[in-house]
Parts: sequence; structure tokens; C-alpha cells
Amino acid sequence: MTVIETSLSTPRQSPARDPLPPVPRMTDIDYAKVNRYWGKATASILGPYMMDDFGFPASAGDFRFREEARIVQRLTRGVKRDGAILDLGSGIGVWAENFARRFSLVTAVEGSRTLFQSLQRRCAPYHNLSPIHGDVMTFEPDARYDLVFLGGLLMYLNERDVITLLRKLVSCIEPGGMILCRESTVRGKAVALTGDYQVVYRSVSDYRRIFEQCGLSVRHVERNEPYVLMEMGIELIEKWKQTVPVRFQALRTVGHLTYFGMRLGSPWIRRVPKAMSIAFPMLENHFFVLGEDAS
Ligand SMILES: C[S@@+](CC[C@H](N)C(=O)[O-])C[C@H]1O[C@@H](n2cnc3c(N)ncnc32)[C@H](O)[C@@H]1O
Repeated sequence: MTVIETSLSTPRQSPARDPLPPVPRMTDIDYAKVNRYWGKATASILGPYMMDDFGFPASAGDFRFREEARIVQRLTRGVKRDGAILDLGSGIGVWAENFARRFSLVTAVEGSRTLFQSLQRRCAPYHNLSPIHGDVMTFEPDARYDLVFLGGLLMYLNERDVITLLRKLVSCIEPGGMILCRESTVRGKAVALTGDYQVVYRSVSDYRRIFEQCGLSVRHVERNEPYVLMEMGIELIEKWKQTVPVRFQALRTVGHLTYFGMRLGSPWIRRVPKAMSIAFPMLENHFFVLGEDAS
């Protein structure tokens, strides 16, 4: 996989916007930096969704979660209610909570202590939910699962670790079980941010190749439209932040107006870039429904 490397240190400045030459070598993610970043992340709905710092109201995070939850509900409707669910990289536990309401048993693993404490508090009322503080790479599943959810986790792992993790997971899904990933994606070559915020944005075809290598068949791929809508707002605000001096940015007002503008303009506003053949927003996000390859 060819990776375009950039050392931008703020999370959401999209590197592809700058005319950086592609660096034709694999870039390793620095896990110490990933841990540091998530160790300090805001334990709110906006933090794990990477929607901090744009002046958005908290309802923007709630909106995205609600809309994504509808998609996840549809994609997982075949999973039996008395099934066991594993949620890896759970953040503050909004998904784990959602699963605990729908299914019999949920295990949620989160690496950041700050986010884990929030997850623990949120999930305390659910006796069918076991929160675990730890690294997904060292987590050893001791059960079989009907659904494994990876919501924005693989982008923080080097490709060899993605493969190790997925191979481990394939061996612990129930026959007919599903792995559901939700990952931020780029249209062209993979992009690695190598500053304080370390991440690799891969393309849909990179993920397809990796999944196939792990003995997983890709049953369904779907663009995450609520993510894309919010990302359009984020990238517009990034432009605003780059061009307007800080003291005139009025970020809270601009963030609120952008969010409500996006909501009012949806779904038409999402169709404009495609109709005009513009690759906007730079970052997309996809759901991948995976099952064990029967062949
Ligand atoms: C983008 S957030 C997504 C959180 C949650 N899945 C959601 O959708 O709201 C990524 C999460 O993965 C966690 N994470 C990243 N690498 C991890 C690792 N190696 N082990 C455990 N958690 C990890 C981070 O701490 C963070 O909470």
C-alpha cells in the first residue's frame, strides 16, 4: 500500500489539501502518540467522533450517532437478540450502550483511561455489559461473538496489526456471525498523519484487500452519509479557520450556523459535490459488513 505521509499535528487538517508529494513507503503509526491523544480526548459525544474544535453544538454529535445507529440497526437486523456482541475501541460507550439495549451480552474494550471511565459510568446500569480497559491487540476473547463492532478503530493500527487483529476475530465469530467496521476513508492513495495525531486513512479498496487477506468476505459496503454530511461542515470550517484570523473567527457562531445549515440542506447538499464532480469532502467514511469467507 502506498501511503502519503504528512506531519500535520492538528487532527482534522486534511493533508490531501496541501500539495505534498507522495512518500512511497509504508508509514508506521506511533502507538505512544495514539495513546497520548486518546488519553487526553474529551469524554463527550463530540470527542471520539473527532468533531471537537469546530464550534458545533453537542447536538451535532447526537445527530450523527442517531443517524448512524439507524444504519447499524438495519445492517445488524439479522443478528439474534440473544447474541453476544464485542465492541472494540468503544470510546465513551455510546455504541456499547446501544448494543446492550438490543442484545443479550456485550463486551466493550477501550484503551483510553479517560474514555473508559466515561464508558463505565454510562454502562453501569446495564448488567449484560462488561467494560474492559485495555489494548485491543492484547485482548484475548474468551467467547464467540455474533457481532464484532469496530467503530473507527482500524485507522489507528498499522496494517500488520489490522491483519493480526482481524485474524484473531475471525476465529471467534459464531458461524454466520458478522464483523461490522466503520472507518474513515479516502478516495485515492492512503494518507498517514504523522504529527501528534497519528492515523492512517485507507481507501475502500485497501480495506477490501486487507479483509480478503484475513479470510473475510465483504458482504456489503455503504458510505456513511451522516458522517459525510458532518465532514462537509468540518472541512468548510477548517477552510474558515485557515483564512480568518483567530480573533475574528467566532467559531461557536460559525460552527452552530454551519451545522444547522448542513441539516437544513440535507440531503441535497450532499449531492452537490458529486453532481459537480468535486472530490469533497476529502475524508469519507464507510461501513463494511464482513463475514467469514466460506470458500
Ligand atoms: C474514533 S474513536 C471511536 C470510538 C467509538 N467506537 C465510537 O464510534 O464512538 C476511536 C477509539 O478507539 C480507541 N483505541 C484506539 N486504539 C486502540 C487500541 N489499540 N486499543 C484499545 N482502544 C483503542 C480510542 O481510545 C478511541 O476511543
